[in-house]
Amino acid sequence: MDPLARHSDYGHEEFDESHVHEDPLETLRQWVIDADAAGIYEPNAFVLGTIDPTVTPTARTVLLKQLDSGLVFVTNYLSRKGRAIDANSRVSAVFGWYSIHRQVLIEGNATRVTPAESDEYFASRPRGSQVAAWASDQSTPVESRNRLDAHYGDLLARFGDDSPVERPPHWGGYRIVPDRIEFWKGRSNRMHDRIAFERDGDGWRVTRLQP
Ligand SMILES: Cc1cc2nc3c(=O)[nH]c(=O)nc-3n(C[C@H](O)[C@H](O)[C@H](O)COP(=O)(O)O)c2cc1C
Repeated sequence: MDPLARHSDYGHEEFDESHVHEDPLETLRQWVIDADAAGIYEPNAFVLGTIDPTVTPTARTVLLKQLDSGLVFVTNYLSRKGRAIDANSRVSAVFGWYSIHRQVLIEGNATRVTPAESDEYFASRPRGSQVAAWASDQSTPVESRNRLDAHYGDLLARFGDDSPVERPPHWGGYRIVPDRIEFWKGRSNRMHDRIAFERDGDGWRVTRLQP
């Protein structure tokens, strides 16, 4: 069947205010765990939206690496997204776990984590990824795949096998502190459930939205 013409039923599982934790980040944590349990590949992947200085919105997938007072992901600070965030901290994040009929939409501010936090996470990465952080000027053009591989090979040889690889100064984490989080649960007949949390002083204002 033409996948564009399909009409899927999104299920009967209810989702209401009693199913969400008073801290929406805890519900997000639970939904990532649920997505993992459902066998979803990379359940911690989300689409990060940024706005660059020409007010062009751009988006790409990144991986959630830590969930605390915000959502932490790691990247190259000089990449397209890094430059956009450093100029405008407003970002969006979209988690889409379609096979379990769930989506989370987030808006907030992203700021760099401390160098110590980036160091700690960098040290936990496989050596190959550490060297890649030095080898790639993310988002800039490269002449060919061969050129990239040769540069990576040179760096692998230069770092050798023993000495620890230091974190490049242009690589590290950002923490997105949300001011809006919306949980979406698909329901039959497109009568979906949507529960939005908006920051209100020290707490959150909770609103149910029409599908
Ligand atoms: C599943 C998946 C996970 C990814 N995770 C990351 C990540 O955590 N950090 C990152 O910098 N890029 C990640 N990428 C690559 C980005 O989507 C993107 O191509 C890259 O960061 C360059 O984006 P930019 O040019 O907008 O800065 C991931 C891509 C996919 C498909």
